[in-house]
Amino acid sequence: MAPILTHFVVAILIAQAYCIPTSRKERSEAVLPDFVNTYDLGAQIANTQPEIDYEVVEGAPSPLTLDNLDSLNALNGSNIYLTSIESTTSNPQPEWLKGVVPDSTGKTNGAVSCSIVVNDYGNGTVDAFYMYFYAYNWGGKVIGLNFDDHVGDWEHTMTRFSNGEPQTIWYSQHGAGEAFEFSAVPTYADGVRPIVYSANGSHANYATSGTHDHTIPGLDLPVGVALVDYTDDGYMWDPTLSAYYASVSFASGTTTPVFAAYDSTTPVNWLNFVGKWGDEQYNSSYPGQYDVFGQYRYSGGPTGPEAKDLNRGEGTCPSGDSAPCIVLPAVTAGERM
Ligand SMILES: *[C@@H]1O[C@H](CO)[C@@H](O)[C@H](O)[C@H]1NC(C)=O
Ligand SMILES: *[C@@H]1O[C@H](CO)[C@@H](O)[C@H](O)[C@H]1NC(C)=O
Ligand SMILES: *[C@@H]1O[C@H](CO)[C@@H](O)[C@H](O)[C@H]1NC(C)=O
Ligand SMILES: *[C@@H]1O[C@H](CO)[C@@H](O)[C@H](O)[C@H]1NC(C)=O
Repeated sequence: MAPILTHFVVAILIAQAYCIPTSRKERSEAVLPDFVNTYDLGAQIANTQPEIDYEVVEGAPSPLTLDNLDSLNALNGSNIYLTSIESTTSNPQPEWLKGVVPDSTGKTNGAVSCSIVVNDYGNGTVDAFYMYFYAYNWGGKVIGLNFDDHVGDWEHTMTRFSNGEPQTIWYSQHGAGEAFEFSAVPTYADGVRPIVYSANGSHANYATSGTHDHTIPGLDLPVGVALVDYTDDGYMWDPTLSAYYASVSFASGTTTPVFAAYDSTTPVNWLNFVGKWGDEQYNSSYPGQYDVFGQYRYSGGPTGPEAKDLNRGEGTCPSGDSAPCIVLPAVTAGERM
């Protein structure tokens, strides 16, 4: 599925507008049955099985697809982990965990690796969420030890438009993130589309290249002391070239998202799935598992797009973010290695 660039870093270019028009090109691809795409979101489902407490869930549809994934919600869905059928810690790792490197145009060929979800509030404000999917998260090393490796990774940016003009942008980073004035972030050669740097292994999103200390969530400090992300001008990935598009709305007073595709062929039901997109944190009897003060080598898989606060209203930051939502007027340059 998605581009997990194991050894390099992607400079992602995110579409400026909410790009319903540019999606037409993708429509033909969306007609393909999910299983044809070896590495995409569908591949994650084909290579995993739903488990709760390390036991396979009874009564799940077979095969599971992007069209019926949300039927798991009725089977104690929020406790379900889409768990790799093969060992994820074998050497070499299963191929499907390695994702697809974008081609020279920035497209992840044969891998739909992005979901673009649009919330039009109907008053001139439109939030466009660009959800990036990666098959595996390599968490990085702290004093020689690896932490936070897990199957499945969802990161996102969100651009807020007012009457068609981009105003602010959110970059997700490890469950927190940073909000910027849109005018502050670097843009691609066309001067319009923002650049997003996806960190090596962890895929946290940054507006600049270099090293980023994320010891304090939401603060991008250039000099690393402990938890450090690395970004550089690696492969260019244009996620809009291979994405599923959907709108999202909320009935007034509710917190349940209602997703709709823009056509009849794009799978959309999977967006409702409330479970986790990777294995549960391996227990202490799993070979190679260790923890240091509660930080685990192998941690649990993430929740999906529905959990990213798609109804932000006033703020650019997700409401679950504990830090105050400060929209920064400038980016911080990363430290050069
Ligand atoms: C980038 O990630 C790979 C694992 O995917 C790791 O082996 C490598 O050390 C990382 N590079 C840096 C600079 O962290
Ligand atoms: C759902 O799963 C959790 C975690 O295993 C368990 O504690 C709970 O009893 C389950 N609920 C039902 C209704 O099966
Ligand atoms: C530990 O995980 C394995 C699967 O990896 C499972 O079979 C076993 O029951 C688990 N043990 C406990 C105590 O949860
Ligand atoms: C647009 O609607 C959203 C959701 O009701 C609200 O939070 C926001 O303040 C509104 N924006 C403007 C500019 O009226």
